[in-house]
Amino acid sequence: MFRTNTCGELRLTNLGQTVTLAGWVQRTRKMGGMTFVDVRDRYGLTQLVFNEEIDAELCAQANKLGREYVIQVTGTVSERESKNKNLPTGDIEIIVSCLKVLNTSKTPPFTIEDNSDGGDDIRMKYRYLDLRRTPVRQNLELRHRMTMEVRRYLDSKGFLEIETPMLVGSTPEGARDFVVPSRMNPGQFYALPQSPQTLKQLLMVSGMDRYFQIVKCFRDEDLRADRQPEFTQIDCEMSFVEQEDVITTFEGMAKHLFKELRGVELTEPFQRMPWSEAMKYYGSDKPDLRFDMKFVELMDVLKGYGFSVFDNAAYIGGICAKGAAVYTRKQLDQLTDFVKRPQIGAKGMVYARIEADGNVKSSVDKFYSQDVLQQMKAAFNAEPGDLILILSGDDAMKTRKQLCELRLEMGNQLGLRDKNKFACLWVVDFPMFEWSEEEGRLMAMHHPFTHPKDEDIPLLDTNPEAVRADAYDMVVNGVEVGGGSIRIHDSQLQAKMFEILGFTPERAQEQFGFLMNAFQYGAPPHGGLAYGLDRWVSLFAGLDSIRDCIAFPKNNSGRDVMLDAPSVLEQKQLDELNLIVNIKEG
Ligand code: AMO
Repeated sequence: MFRTNTCGELRLTNLGQTVTLAGWVQRTRKMGGMTFVDVRDRYGLTQLVFNEEIDAELCAQANKLGREYVIQVTGTVSERESKNKNLPTGDIEIIVSCLKVLNTSKTPPFTIEDNSDGGDDIRMKYRYLDLRRTPVRQNLELRHRMTMEVRRYLDSKGFLEIETPMLVGSTPEGARDFVVPSRMNPGQFYALPQSPQTLKQLLMVSGMDRYFQIVKCFRDEDLRADRQPEFTQIDCEMSFVEQEDVITTFEGMAKHLFKELRGVELTEPFQRMPWSEAMKYYGSDKPDLRFDMKFVELMDVLKGYGFSVFDNAAYIGGICAKGAAVYTRKQLDQLTDFVKRPQIGAKGMVYARIEADGNVKSSVDKFYSQDVLQQMKAAFNAEPGDLILILSGDDAMKTRKQLCELRLEMGNQLGLRDKNKFACLWVVDFPMFEWSEEEGRLMAMHHPFTHPKDEDIPLLDTNPEAVRADAYDMVVNGVEVGGGSIRIHDSQLQAKMFEILGFTPERAQEQFGFLMNAFQYGAPPHGGLAYGLDRWVSLFAGLDSIRDCIAFPKNNSGRDVMLDAPSVLEQKQLDELNLIVNIKEG
């Protein structure tokens, strides 16, 4: 037997047993005639003891062990003199009688401990070593348990797990595609799926009724902490359902995951908020509701007193930070610098402190009487000790987004975004379309297969921008963890949608003919949703980026630095694929 036990298993109840362990050398310490070696595997760490007086040769062998050597040891479990309360195996140690080196190791480029001394780049290059570290491994274990619970939940609700192809056709809507050249079809390309959206809809036409898939999706878009070019969706679709059925089923799944993986019992229905309200009060379609700090609009209160910045603004809005009147001038200047950063783009910030006597002291006192400032204070329901922060601008949507950043920053600074607190929310009633400056046309906000709200269908011809969709996103702690919609199942309505999106009938047929044709063969009403698995895991693990819950992630430039991918192809491969590489300068 290679090993009788794992390195995380032995306790005082095993005293006196002869055991064999195998694992990696974490650390060796020589203390007088004794050598202590910590051996590690996936399950934990066990201390090994070698005594020079008992076996000098064995001890000499132990002294030669380097970090990350792979060893096998046999010995007796004995009680430790000085116990380590921080280690599950901390009460025992193994008095080793036999040591075998199974493999040597070069000195690793960073320490393989909970807090590594390795920077991001080096840990990514040697990701297989990084994965030996307990916190990273635990993230993958959580991910595994999550996919198991997802399968258990969905199976219990009658969902079938069905795989869809990875080599599909390129679609013009949405993000950029990753494409794959076809050798057998010269000059033609597959695309990797951005999501199995149309395929799962076709499965509904097939009568599969309840489908799910834990599936890789690919999007060639700019990366952020919560975005990877390849990521995993828990993709689902249901037939003969309305929005309420989908929401109930997947809220149930979210609650199941919270209970099984975090031990958090959520008994109340999740809050729901129309998109328009989320934008108005939080400046975001994914508000973080762990804290309140709702926006208050101040156009009626603060316009018309000669302060030209406000007088000329289309939008004036503010937030009230409870107890933050203690902020110093320096802290307020730093906040002003924060909102003026190019990524946020505000021109400036006005502040007002509510003093102990109830008076308001603001940075624009010379324009406003105490009377007006008191009206402002009342609009916020502010109390002594509170701090009001105000932004204004000539574009309401832009200014709200800036105020959203300020709100989140204040949430951070005041410690209101506790990672162990969860605020779950459905954002509903999204607009069907949004105007794209870049494209100069309307684009589908969710995707072109989303069903408009029945009562808004007449507006499709007259005022498409006012049309709301049967679309919903789930937001937890300000992260969009999932989204979906009721779909169009009528080929004529689908054709109309493509027309509004600027497709000629020919182009719509060319790109989406397969779907519209299928809809002519008895498509059932259907809808669904996709959860972002990586985002759920990182939320539950309290991570700042989804990278650490992915075994082999890409860096911010979309590179896998370990595999050194992407890379150039050899001329022979390019020739076979009929490709000519033409890199434009600059
Ligand atoms: P959507 O584009 O909203 O919807 O994606 C669903 C969920 O997937 C996650 N997600 C990502 N996670 C990591 N990296 C990315 N680049 C990334 N992009 C998206 C998010 C998001 O909520 N077919 C539709 C779903 C449907 O309508 O059923 C879709 O793909 O958590």
